[in-house]
Amino acid sequence: MRLIYLDNNATTPVDPLVLKEMVPFFSVYYGNPSSPYRLGQEAKQHLKKARIAICRFLNCEEDEIVFTSCGTESNNAAILSALRTTGKKRIVTTVTEHSSIQELCTDLEKRGFDIDRIPVDSLGLIDLEEVEKRINEQTALVSVMWANNETGVIFPVEQIAEICRKRGVYFHTDAVQAVGKIPIDLSKIPVDFLSLTGHKFYAPKGIGVLFVRKGRPFEPFIRGGSQEMRRRAGTENVPAIVGMGKAIEILSHQMVEENKKIRALRDLLETRILSEVPLTKLNGDKLNRIPNTTNICFKGVDAETLLFDLDQKGICASGGSACTTGSLKPSRVLTAMGLNPLEAKSSVRFSLGRHNTEEEIQFAADEIVKSVEKIRGKIPRH
Ligand SMILES: Cc1ncc(COP(=O)(O)O)c(C=O)c1O
Repeated sequence: MRLIYLDNNATTPVDPLVLKEMVPFFSVYYGNPSSPYRLGQEAKQHLKKARIAICRFLNCEEDEIVFTSCGTESNNAAILSALRTTGKKRIVTTVTEHSSIQELCTDLEKRGFDIDRIPVDSLGLIDLEEVEKRINEQTALVSVMWANNETGVIFPVEQIAEICRKRGVYFHTDAVQAVGKIPIDLSKIPVDFLSLTGHKFYAPKGIGVLFVRKGRPFEPFIRGGSQEMRRRAGTENVPAIVGMGKAIEILSHQMVEENKKIRALRDLLETRILSEVPLTKLNGDKLNRIPNTTNICFKGVDAETLLFDLDQKGICASGGSACTTGSLKPSRVLTAMGLNPLEAKSSVRFSLGRHNTEEEIQFAADEIVKSVEKIRGKIPRH
């Protein structure tokens, strides 16, 4: 059966060019980058090459990049480091952060830390004045995601970074869903810490980055070795780092064109669903959005049932975020935007990627229309 993959915010396939680049690092250049002989030093050089590709893309410096195991680790590391280095007890964040921030913050709250979560409006946007108001003397860090994984809504990170700079407070952004989808220039935006992960842009799973701006204090999350300038211990995942470097290099050549195509396909899918399926509504701001994501509420349709039906047809999409799939709870992000639990449980996220074609999108739209008709037809009418 053919597969139409519309869940690229959950993860992306590894690009064939990325895989090709990685393969020799499992069997030929398998040295430990910390080993002094040539095999190790060759691996070290390739780490450097990947680091340089990432720096060029983000417009930052080599020693500002710390390789981690994933976005979750980068997020945990940024928050815990800020609490330790400042000795302060307050984190300002938002209600729509990824669970890797939310759950850490909930745990910190239980341990006596003060967590202030900025609310969002019905479009999923935050009020900049609220950010300003919530910062005080005790604030260790402001952590606000760049783009939301469920709705694709973009937060005004440039302005938030500016507010934090003026107030003398460190700012971290979870840019996991922004990298490769919108331009990021760290020489222009005063972000102090930034998280990203390879598997959202066609690199493998299990490799991430924490950007730590020069001069900012940083305490390692994982200790036990001198790797990454003592900021992240553990033997480097050389094949994955090389793959992430290649994936970033590909993005730097084709990101603009690629996103034009993806946006057009996303708009096609969205327009067809909203116009051909009765009682549907877009969740989240239509304008401030990454180009690949649409989140749609199908009133009266259980999203799990719809997703199961689509899966039978080879179409992959998701309800809420992948990490909460399987739980019966309605999406925290959508309910924070004011959707009632039933509406939230009737919402589906479609996130497109590099490999989708117009033919796939037309087919998916046809099948979504049919599935919803079938599911609604089964509901007894009174
Ligand atoms: C916004 C956001 N932050 C963090 C993560 C976690 O990244 P990783 O899967 O690499 O731990 C994800 C993954 O879904 C995400 O969407």
